[in-house]
Amino acid sequence: MEYTVEVKNLTLRYGSFIAVDNISFNVKKGEIFGLLGPNGAGKTSTIKVLTTLVPPTKGRVLISNYDVEKEPRQVRRVMGWVASEVILDDDLQVIENLKLQASLQGLYGWEENAENMLEYFKIKETRNKKVGGLSTGMRKKLEIIMALLSEPSVIFMDEPTIGLDVGTRKMLWELIRDIRKKHGVTIFLTTHYMEEADDLCDRIAIISKGKIVAIDTPEKLKAKAGSSIITLEVNQDFKASDLKGIKANRKGNEINISLKGGDASFTKILKRINLKNVDSLRLTKPSLDTVFLNLTGSTMEEQESSKIQNMNFYATIRRARS
Ligand SMILES: Nc1ncnc2c1ncn2[C@@H]1O[C@H](COP(=O)(O)OP(=O)(O)OP(=O)(O)O)[C@@H](O)[C@H]1O
Ligand SMILES: [Mg+2]
Repeated sequence: MEYTVEVKNLTLRYGSFIAVDNISFNVKKGEIFGLLGPNGAGKTSTIKVLTTLVPPTKGRVLISNYDVEKEPRQVRRVMGWVASEVILDDDLQVIENLKLQASLQGLYGWEENAENMLEYFKIKETRNKKVGGLSTGMRKKLEIIMALLSEPSVIFMDEPTIGLDVGTRKMLWELIRDIRKKHGVTIFLTTHYMEEADDLCDRIAIISKGKIVAIDTPEKLKAKAGSSIITLEVNQDFKASDLKGIKANRKGNEINISLKGGDASFTKILKRINLKNVDSLRLTKPSLDTVFLNLTGSTMEEQESSKIQNMNFYATIRRARS
């Protein structure tokens, strides 16, 4: 198996505080891998070690077989980075930002690649515009182009869609899937959006208080969380015998049936029940929320408001400057 990211017994301490607590995992080449966890779980701390910004306190991290501690320059050469903070210079044009990025990374012959990506990402018309005037979606696209400029084997993204509206978020998921397909690049991202991890990632590691509490595909994680539930809304003429012996819980007009045999048993059960006095029905699948709750005993409440306030602060500064 070819791994792009290998993390073994990684611990990161800030003074006596343990932010990352002895975690181990591998990311396969070409995978979209998500580190999912609530505020303060240790996502950014982990990504900082993986991108050579902070040395590990203990443990070993390899990126494309390069050691982050011993070979940080080689690691930086094979990786791209999309930060959740603002990294674009609003006073410069799109193409000037790209030029700046290329010179910071010491790249040569990047121009054609950049022009192609502007076209591919459908922001070619912004080429000579100042970045300050771009929409959030366009800015994100530009940040991703900047990360791809050096043709990296892996891109790290720390909460790439935080504070974006649903439409822009979904557009970005599409784009991330696209670049994986087109460039064969491995994507490592952090998120605290369950839906994002579920929809976008091939595999997820759930991190809580510095520890990885589960790691698997979204489907398998959810399967472990329990079975899907069929809920029937019935009228008063519905009789117990209409269930034809199927095990269920009844609460007033609501009947819940747990799908123990997996989703395949859904139609089987429906065919058996007498639906004459059933007014409506719905299927509830187990969610990653349930997984997180089962594993940690707490819910992953979104606490992004403070970060969005920060982003608004940046936006205010941007406007003040322009
Ligand atoms: N430079 C630092 N010095 C001391 N403690 C820190 C430092 N950076 C982070 N921490 C603490 O380490 C823990 C993990 O922080 P980290 O930023 O990795 O979490 P996170 O999962 O990225 O959270 P968020 O969703 O808020 O971005 C937090 O308790 C945080 O307060
Ligand atoms: Mg963070």
